[in-house]
Amino acid sequence: MKKLGALLLAVFMVFTLVACNSTQGESSSQAKTTSQSATDETKEQAKSDSAGNGKVLVVYFSATGSTEKVAKAIAEASDATLFEIEPKEPYTSDDLNYNDDNSRVSREHNNPDLQNVELTSTSVPNWDSYDTVFVGYPIWWGDAAWPVSSFVKANNFDGKTVIPFCTSASSDIGDSGKNLADLAKTGDWQTGRRFSSSADTSEVKAWVTEFGL
Ligand SMILES: Cc1cc2nc3c(=O)[nH]c(=O)nc-3n(C[C@H](O)[C@H](O)[C@H](O)COP(=O)(O)O)c2cc1C
Repeated sequence: MKKLGALLLAVFMVFTLVACNSTQGESSSQAKTTSQSATDETKEQAKSDSAGNGKVLVVYFSATGSTEKVAKAIAEASDATLFEIEPKEPYTSDDLNYNDDNSRVSREHNNPDLQNVELTSTSVPNWDSYDTVFVGYPIWWGDAAWPVSSFVKANNFDGKTVIPFCTSASSDIGDSGKNLADLAKTGDWQTGRRFSSSADTSEVKAWVTEFGL
């Protein structure tokens, strides 16, 4: 009789343990589902925050982040969508060493045939919906960095106001915007503006308000 009691107790304990574990499993998987959906919501929110109003687009190429910072400030000030121009083969710091005659940029600079840099994508979703397109780039040897040329040649800017902007160590925007307009052949290209590599975002935002977007 004692043995039967002990056996029943053991069965009860095993049952309790299993039941307990399965409840824990359920609640932890429930917690996972809840936190997963919270992450998805945050991602969706971030997506719609960067989606903009569908009228203004900021397209930019940035090798070391300076132009990107300006592009983001413009997008924030004009409720714009951002589109980054990305070479299929990104530029490393060795690639960008213009003091080395053999670096990638030096070779590309010396041979215009090499400047048709392949991009990961040249098509912007909902391209037709944008009235105003800011086009940003770093100045390379006094002109627009050539990955931007590949983008500009691949798109039709008909019916769009195009505003170039650039960052540089010291050079002005010069003819870089006009040269891109010549490549694009379409669009109403404005004079645009140069910012210093270390431009203050408030200076950028003040400039954007001039367009009344
Ligand atoms: C290959 C190369 C050429 C450059 N040529 C010039 C130039 O002619 N004039 C100038 O003021 N800055 C020049 N710079 C400096 C960049 O324009 C400047 O650092 C820019 O803000 C970089 O932008 P990013 O960080 O968006 O790539 C050059 C930089 C590189 C890598």
